[in-house]
Amino acid sequence: MVQLGVNIDHVATVRQARRTYEPDPVWAAALVELGGADGITTHLREDRRHINDRDLRLLRETVSVKLNLEMACEPEIVEIACRTKPDQATLVPEKREEITTEGGLDVVGQYDRVAEAVEKLRRAGVSVSLFLDPDPAQIEAAARLSVDAVELHTGRYALASGAEQKKELDTLRRVGAIIRQAGLTLHAGHGLTYRNVRPVADIDGMHELNIGHSIIARAIMVGLKDAVAEMKRLVGG
Ligand code: PXP
Repeated sequence: MVQLGVNIDHVATVRQARRTYEPDPVWAAALVELGGADGITTHLREDRRHINDRDLRLLRETVSVKLNLEMACEPEIVEIACRTKPDQATLVPEKREEITTEGGLDVVGQYDRVAEAVEKLRRAGVSVSLFLDPDPAQIEAAARLSVDAVELHTGRYALASGAEQKKELDTLRRVGAIIRQAGLTLHAGHGLTYRNVRPVADIDGMHELNIGHSIIARAIMVGLKDAVAEMKRLVGG
């Protein structure tokens, strides 16, 4: 059964638009759990543009499903993660000017930096996933680091249409098989919606999908619990 992790950062983005106390991402996490999600995903960015240290601390205390922390390989954030001990850390690249995470982590180009973060997290008992583009060279480097999982970046698939989208899906399938052959757990995410999620959920061995924007967007219309329950049904819950 494919596990659904729901990214709640967008709830904090609405709060930060007014620098107030509502809506609270900690409340949102409880509703996401009630909707049947298997995990809460959240990104503590260096610039704290949405989720902040208080949110992460309270989420660690209150979330009873898997807590997945998306994070850059920055020493300050690695230190917070080792202290907070989420169930899983997903290492992502981070640029200050980006609207959302662009592209996967470059493990090939930044091998030593990533290796150092992976080692510290694993020593703290945190399972590690790497957010990677569907590029076999990146997967090979991830396998050398013996991380637990790879989250395939589905952004290009999500943005494409027609024959181009079919090609991107084939790439995800092919690289997904390489990840599993390397003994790593297969995750995917970014840009997935109620319309495009099914073929990705059906990829052989898909274990976990992390979805944020589309679920929170629908929640504004139908409520968070129903929006999560509907996505959970779609991914095969
Ligand atoms: N997975 C990772 C690694 C991400 O960085 C994000 C965006 O924060 C997501 C999944 C969720 O992407 P979306 O909001 O487009 O569903």
